[in-house]
Amino acid sequence: MTDASATRAPTPRERLIVALDAPDVAAAQGLIVRLGDGVEFFKVGMELVYGGGGFGLIERLVQSGKRVFVDLKLHDIPNTVERATAQIARLGAFFLTVHAYPQTMRAAVAGARGSGLKLLGVSVLTSCDDSDLAEAGYAFGVGALTQRRAAQAQEIGVDGLVASPAEAAMLRATCAARFLLVTPGVRPTGADVGDQKRIATPGRAIADGADYLVVGRPVTQAADPRAAAEAIVREIAAAAGVVDASPAHAPSWKR
Ligand code: C5P
Repeated sequence: MTDASATRAPTPRERLIVALDAPDVAAAQGLIVRLGDGVEFFKVGMELVYGGGGFGLIERLVQSGKRVFVDLKLHDIPNTVERATAQIARLGAFFLTVHAYPQTMRAAVAGARGSGLKLLGVSVLTSCDDSDLAEAGYAFGVGALTQRRAAQAQEIGVDGLVASPAEAAMLRATCAARFLLVTPGVRPTGADVGDQKRIATPGRAIADGADYLVVGRPVTQAADPRAAAEAIVREIAAAAGVVDASPAHAPSWKR
């Protein structure tokens, strides 16, 4: 990201990242149109990219002034990770995820250098518990491995971590203030939980120290996606104790 807005504190609206979990670009575009200027930040993941046309959509979103989180969770030999990261940096994306293995993170930092692309480490997938880690051969449980990887990510120069809201308070207390915490598993009060297990409301996640919230179905499956997004932005603003002054909240005569 090269614009000056990347270096100032994000507005409440910029702290909401809507996950474009759609089967194809046409469906994703329909959603983007419905959300209008109610959403400033979108996450594009494997489903959309592997379905074809995802990178073109990312470039169009960036050109239209939106922020994009490319959630491709890179992990390979360092040379491949470095070069793949450099390719994604050219798209103008804001965030990219890589698995939080030290070798992988170092390669991604090298690939992103000079671009403004921010890197997020995926510490431990939220679908894994202690027994999954033991089965995979790890000597650490989820908590200890998350802490270890957060420390390594900061030392290597990764910008932040994707973590469950359940880990946000613990990480906020132990990580540098500038180290970004991005939490999925967010559910407004009364929303369908779906397959998420460790969830928090938007207000709780922000109060616990999350910098950005990733929200999918509570917005994308809502009868009125834009109204659902607006309600979350209001909840973020209230929890952060700030007034949202972004375009969609400006008085109509100022837009
Ligand atoms: O629909 P929902 O709000 O559950 O979507 C959450 C989004 O965050 C999905 O795109 C999912 O892939 C992503 N995610 C997650 N848990 C993680 C990492 C990413 O739910 N640990």
